[in-house]
Amino acid sequence: MKIIAVANQKGGCAKTTTVVNLAACLAEFGKKILVIDLDPQANATTWLGADSGGGDAFKLLTTKAPLEQLIAPTSLEGVYIIGASRELANFEKAVAGEIAVETRLKRRLSALKPEHWDFVLIDTPPTLGLITLNALSTAQELLVPVTTHVLSLSGVAQLVETLEEVKDVLNPSLNILGFVACRVDSRTRHSKEILELLINQFGDKVLKSTIRESIRLAEAPSFQLSINQYGSKSTAADDYRALAAEVLSLAK
Ligand SMILES: Nc1ncnc2c1ncn2[C@@H]1O[C@H](COP(=O)(O)OP(=O)(O)OP(=O)(O)O)[C@@H](O)[C@H]1O
Ligand SMILES: [Mg+2]
Repeated sequence: MKIIAVANQKGGCAKTTTVVNLAACLAEFGKKILVIDLDPQANATTWLGADSGGGDAFKLLTTKAPLEQLIAPTSLEGVYIIGASRELANFEKAVAGEIAVETRLKRRLSALKPEHWDFVLIDTPPTLGLITLNALSTAQELLVPVTTHVLSLSGVAQLVETLEEVKDVLNPSLNILGFVACRVDSRTRHSKEILELLINQFGDKVLKSTIRESIRLAEAPSFQLSINQYGSKSTAADDYRALAAEVLSLAK
């Protein structure tokens, strides 16, 4: 069982798109996936057809409810979810004054049976607050989606700084699985230049697979379908399958 946090505090950089479609493509390879939606926006939960009126991720973080009560099936075979709800926005208030709140998720997930799951994918909100800290404290691997626009890069530096602090204090073995360039438009020089800048800065931590700009990907959530269901032969499905294959080879 590998726990991968998908994080980048920049809003709209394709975290949720990557969690949902990477989960779908890993499941296509026969893997069993648990998605944990830690974003109060609950986009991954809605996309996967698992509206969580029950606030399961909030319960995960704030109660001792058994995990099997919180894990729900999704519309994708092999993909399960602990779904988010708006209540999650109250997490920091709910645990104010309690101890070791940054590692609450880690302690809760220690009850997962590793033989049941190949991957746990954690979607995070666009902040570096307590929820994202919980994800970084729990994960073995960090996957960072980066859109190829110049403003994306400054946020990455801040994320790497937070990552170093988390490694020092909370989770020394956290590894950067990689940066994945998303919404790449190979026709523009700008997109290529940003990708080159990323590679100059992070070398082989920039994954070989890139996700191209695709209208199919932007449409898929309205139908609650993953890209391999909605456009199985689309470039976006190819891209996410390639990413899944690369993740499989890196996160053994
Ligand atoms: N490769 C792509 N091609 C076209 N549109 C994309 C692509 N990847 C993501 N998008 C679109 O970009 C927007 C933001 O994506 P997404 O919701 O996955 O980002 P996010 O990082 O999870 O955002 P937030 O920080 O709000 O949680 C969405 O409208 C999504 O459909
Ligand atoms: Mg999101």
